[in-house]
Amino acid sequence: MTDNPVAPRTSPSSPTSLTPLALLGTGAMGTALARAWLAAGHPVTVWNRTPARAELLAAEGATVAASAAEAVAASRLVVVCLLDDASVGAALDDADLTGRDLVNLTTGTPAQGRARATWAEARGARFLDAGIMAVPPMIGDAKSGAYVFYSGSPGLFEEHGDTLAVPAATRYVGADPGFAALYDVALLSAMSGMFAGVLHAFALLRREDIDPRDFAPLLVSWLGAMAPAAHQAADQLRSGDYGKDVVSNLAMQVAGNATLLATAEEQGVSAELLTPYMALMERWLAEGHGDEDTTGAVELLDVRGGGAPGVR
Ligand SMILES: NC(=O)c1ccc[n+]([C@@H]2O[C@H](COP(=O)([O-])OP(=O)(O)OC[C@H]3O[C@@H](n4cnc5c(N)ncnc54)[C@H](OP(=O)(O)O)[C@@H]3O)[C@@H](O)[C@H]2O)c1
Repeated sequence: MTDNPVAPRTSPSSPTSLTPLALLGTGAMGTALARAWLAAGHPVTVWNRTPARAELLAAEGATVAASAAEAVAASRLVVVCLLDDASVGAALDDADLTGRDLVNLTTGTPAQGRARATWAEARGARFLDAGIMAVPPMIGDAKSGAYVFYSGSPGLFEEHGDTLAVPAATRYVGADPGFAALYDVALLSAMSGMFAGVLHAFALLRREDIDPRDFAPLLVSWLGAMAPAAHQAADQLRSGDYGKDVVSNLAMQVAGNATLLATAEEQGVSAELLTPYMALMERWLAEGHGDEDTTGAVELLDVRGGGAPGVR
């Protein structure tokens, strides 16, 4: 056991109860989810706006509903995996959600998750919002590392957690229905910065006689070696002491940035993916934080001001 509140929960190898469920949306992700539940033996009713995409699943044992309202009427547990929040509202507009357990696997913002929870509860449903940390080929493969963040009704998660863990491991991150989207988007945002760096690195080498396939393993191991620095940043954020256990101080890093920029120029590569982060580091240095870590620059990103209530 672990006391980490976001530790993953995986499906038992042989589910003890095969809860029926309705799945709205059989796009790339919805189809992968439906296949995982069908393969595990769950009765699944599917609906899709374009019926042909749902009908493909009939051959695999799914019941195809003629409308979203009909699918919702078929099962107490209703899973929605549509393009965006607006499509969830459109699909469920005339469905009777009274007594339903609605699980929204559609990617959205924290505010959309909270508003959708209020909307669902006003219609008599319990609600969980979710953020899928996987691509469709990882769904249903217990070794893929796929998992899904859930937040919202604790009772719903307690009752259906084993069913939800069939396609991918689950991480329940709290009763606030906005938290699943917040965790999801925070991880995706970190990934965005990482891939910006990867693209810049490949651009530096592109015109040289260097095979990118030889360089890729070096990139992967270097990023893997650097990533644990996030633990130290978390400790500093928690304590509010950005000078704690500094290994690479900000003044040194800003000086090093000049070499990164000069190399980009030598190689004929635009530094546009690097300069926003470097400008932030320079602003924090100018405010007198050269002996500290870069972590404190988080304060410059806080456009609302007033500091972080969580810092202890
Ligand atoms: N694919 C991924 O790698 C991935 C990874 C993580 C999370 N997700 C999330 O999973 C969700 C579904 O993604 P996907 O990959 O399955 O996308 P997709 O293949 O493009 O499927 C989109 C689904 O939404 C439906 N839809 C779109 N607009 C609609 C509307 N106005 N009313 C009713 N249904 C509507 C589509 O129906 P039609 O067939 O009729 O167009 C289809 O079922 C998204 O929120 C996405 O961010 C996807």
